[in-house]
Amino acid sequence: MKKMDLLYEGKAKKVYKTEDENLYIVSYKDDATAFNGLKKGTISEKGSINNRVSNHLMKLLESKGIPTHLVEEINDRETIVKKVEIVPLEVIVRNIAAGSLSKRLGLEEGTKLRRTVLEYCYKNDALGDPMINEYHILALDLAKEEELDRIAELSFKINEVLTDYLKDVNIELIDFKLEFGRTPQGEIILADEISPDTCRFWDSNTKEKLDKDRFRRDLGNVEGAYQEILRRLIGE
Ligand code: C5P
Repeated sequence: MKKMDLLYEGKAKKVYKTEDENLYIVSYKDDATAFNGLKKGTISEKGSINNRVSNHLMKLLESKGIPTHLVEEINDRETIVKKVEIVPLEVIVRNIAAGSLSKRLGLEEGTKLRRTVLEYCYKNDALGDPMINEYHILALDLAKEEELDRIAELSFKINEVLTDYLKDVNIELIDFKLEFGRTPQGEIILADEISPDTCRFWDSNTKEKLDKDRFRRDLGNVEGAYQEILRRLIGE
């Protein structure tokens, strides 16, 4: 399958049309940004690691009955995905306090939450992706009520599957961000990516950070952390 017109270029990925109107090709970049684009850099091999890690986890989710956009990995950096209309929400799932939650509520990073927390942000760069709740989502018609129920149901299920799976390779799933899309038939499916860019992964024993926080916080050995995730998940 060939790449045709560039449809969209984001901070970490490009999306191309293909000759099949129902399929797109996603191409992962090594560019890294943080703090809504204020911090910029590149992480060597990030594109190919995120592509492979994300596809590996999406395959796992598919095997557990979660519908995803994944069709086929065509090379290290590129994957064929189903065409969807992205629901303009970042769905954040949290098991352990960290990042903006720790800051907002004064919780020490690493504090276990008594139950899983779901948060929504409005995907809007100009506004800096503000946090919103279900009422805002329905009031602004960002999603229908049935769609939002399905998004929440899938997010909790994804959390269970990933948490269990990662435990076996000694990774604690602290929190992560998901995006969903609508197929032309109106089905809600998981889209975007699941990678060290979009998840907090801590080593279960040492609590070492193996994710994009190493870039955001200048912790060093960013590439090594991404490689380590690839190694634990895929064995490369
Ligand atoms: O920064 P914060 O603590 O709200 O991030 C929660 C989770 O969502 C983290 O795993 C982070 O990597 C992810 N996230 C993301 N893209 C954003 C914001 C957060 O992938 N724009």
